[in-house]
Amino acid sequence: MIPLVKVRMPPREQLMPALERVLYGGMIAEGEEVYAFEREFAEQFGLPNVLAMSSGTGALHVAFLVCGVSPGDEVITTAMTAEPTNTTILQIGARPVFADVEPDTGNLAPAAVERAITPATKAICVVHYAGYPADMTALRAIADRHGIALIEDCAHALGARIAGVPVGTIGDAAIFSFQAIKHMTSVDGGMLALRDPARLDLARRLRWFGLRKGVPRTEVDITTPGFKYNMNNVTAVVGRHQLPTIGEAIARHIENGRFYDRAFAQTPGAMPAHVAADSEPSYWLYTLLCDDAAAVEAALVEAGITASKLHRPNHLHSVLAPYAGSMPGLDHFYGRLLHVPCGWWVSDADRQRIVDIVTEAAR
Ligand SMILES: Cc1ncc(COP(=O)(O)O)c(C=O)c1O
Repeated sequence: MIPLVKVRMPPREQLMPALERVLYGGMIAEGEEVYAFEREFAEQFGLPNVLAMSSGTGALHVAFLVCGVSPGDEVITTAMTAEPTNTTILQIGARPVFADVEPDTGNLAPAAVERAITPATKAICVVHYAGYPADMTALRAIADRHGIALIEDCAHALGARIAGVPVGTIGDAAIFSFQAIKHMTSVDGGMLALRDPARLDLARRLRWFGLRKGVPRTEVDITTPGFKYNMNNVTAVVGRHQLPTIGEAIARHIENGRFYDRAFAQTPGAMPAHVAADSEPSYWLYTLLCDDAAAVEAALVEAGITASKLHRPNHLHSVLAPYAGSMPGLDHFYGRLLHVPCGWWVSDADRQRIVDIVTEAAR
């Protein structure tokens, strides 16, 4: 059985003593482990101004708020994503406006984003779907031209780069997820990265009820109500112990992804998602586009290999259906989409077997 996604834990002999120290050390809530994780993660992934959060969803909620998204505002977004990207917009009372995606990547199409802008648009939320970077040069230019915020949902894209620059550094705010099956997990958790350090103070307060850490509880004054979105020392210690080896895990996703890109370049009935010349995906999932995705999926599953579409286009949910328009790019992409395993657990023999099965089933 080759799974599509897999939980990766640090070596037991390294993690368990550190975890035990934290669990029985008297300080399990937000503290030094969290702040050390923030510093180390920021340095390793080249990110400015980061805050560790209890989830990627919490980080995204705060990202929208610090970028000024308020009830009634429009946020241009993608339906080709996991649900939290868009339920978070609803949670604020803002209005998701679905722009179409590129049929060969599933990522927001800049031309469709530009068409969707109205005087009520406050932000664009872009997802680097499955770990393939979106066209950030075009999206940054659109956001700047219209004076609106650009928020990067990098939940799938840890370690991906665009023209040598890490994802998460081009948007005004960006988020990462450390939920169970992402490239890297802290059991649950997320990271918020902010371009403008002046937004850190509000983000910190929104992370913790609206309170300011370090001010005595009897004196502190809440001026903006916040949430309970802070990371704790226990999950932070899991995150910290992932960092020494996460580079090699991501490198294996990339190596397998590039192997498939070469192997499927000439396969009748199946093709790789498009990778732009300056784009370095981190291939959380490998995106294959098939003439008959169901037949290829059935052949892989029959051989004990998990392959699926994994996500449901969000506008198919009742709560998001009212915001859907015509999206021919998404329809084309989703009809042909099949994710196949490409993570650190996929061996050279596994990936060759996957190529052989796809080649046979896709023709
Ligand atoms: C694209 C995307 N955005 C946001 C999230 C939210 O992350 P989390 O599960 O850490 O809250 C996820 C993961 O579930 C995701 O896949």
